[in-house]
Amino acid sequence: MTKQYGLLAFPAKHSLSPEIHSAAFKALSIDAQYGLFEIPENELDDFVKRLKSDLIAGLSVSLPYKEVMIDHMSEIDDDAKKIGAINTVVNRDGILCGYNTDFIGSNKALKEAVGELKGKKVVILGAGGAARAVIYGLLKEGACVVGILNRTLETAENLAKEFSEMFNVQIKAYSSENLAKDLPFKDDLGNEAILIQTTSIWTTNPDISEEYVRKFCPPEYVGMFATVMDIIYRPRITPLLKIAEDLGKKIITGDKMFLYQATEQFKLWTEKEAPFEVMRNVLEENL
Ligand code: ATR
Repeated sequence: MTKQYGLLAFPAKHSLSPEIHSAAFKALSIDAQYGLFEIPENELDDFVKRLKSDLIAGLSVSLPYKEVMIDHMSEIDDDAKKIGAINTVVNRDGILCGYNTDFIGSNKALKEAVGELKGKKVVILGAGGAARAVIYGLLKEGACVVGILNRTLETAENLAKEFSEMFNVQIKAYSSENLAKDLPFKDDLGNEAILIQTTSIWTTNPDISEEYVRKFCPPEYVGMFATVMDIIYRPRITPLLKIAEDLGKKIITGDKMFLYQATEQFKLWTEKEAPFEVMRNVLEENL
């Protein structure tokens, strides 16, 4: 019987997960299909019931369900539990098992660009579900998460406190409202610091104004970092990465993290190595 996989998200249409996973199944001659489950929030409970009975073999989980889906899992992997969010479900005969491969993806993308992460100084922009996975991955590798910047300061403070306690480190929090003027964490950065943008701002505001971009990631602030990563892959060169590129910074585009989290997902579903080149080529063609 053909196995069913898919992306649970709302909205889901902007994702390239169907393209790369379908190509991977085909390349390994696995009898499986990957579709979109674009489920509004009021239908989530029914969808979860269907998931258990219909034997959908596995899911990718994206916005806005990474945190709420954890409550629907029978088993949760230890890393996912600590992150507090899942991006992958494996359905083992009706037992729903939750994992998070986002932190593996972000670590791989970072290491590929800057080498070992131990001791590297990093500032995180955003304090949502995606930030949680990125921060967890960094701390697990011994990187120094200097601080979290967020529009809503309280969310950044809560996140900083939670992970400071979990890893016995000191993460600071600061409002992202006045970056050009305040230059938060200026004295803690050194000359190899990394800035990572983790919010969904470019996806949710495709027509964002120049003015807002300059406020959200002012060149005066971006200029303090050696490397800038954005986890959004559409557009590949986000407004932040354009600013960083113009300043001559090393940039890491979001397609890297996306690809690496997907290959890990594929491994969890199939217990086989993912056909990396195939997936990368399909991603390249579709970006
Ligand atoms: P995700 O799972 O993608 O991280 P999320 O958990 O809803 O999504 O978190 C969204 C993040 O993007 C938050 O840090 C949010 O800031 P607030 O905590 O202030 O809401 C940030 N964000 C979203 N839209 C934004 C915008 N227009 N400007 C600044 N930050 C924004």
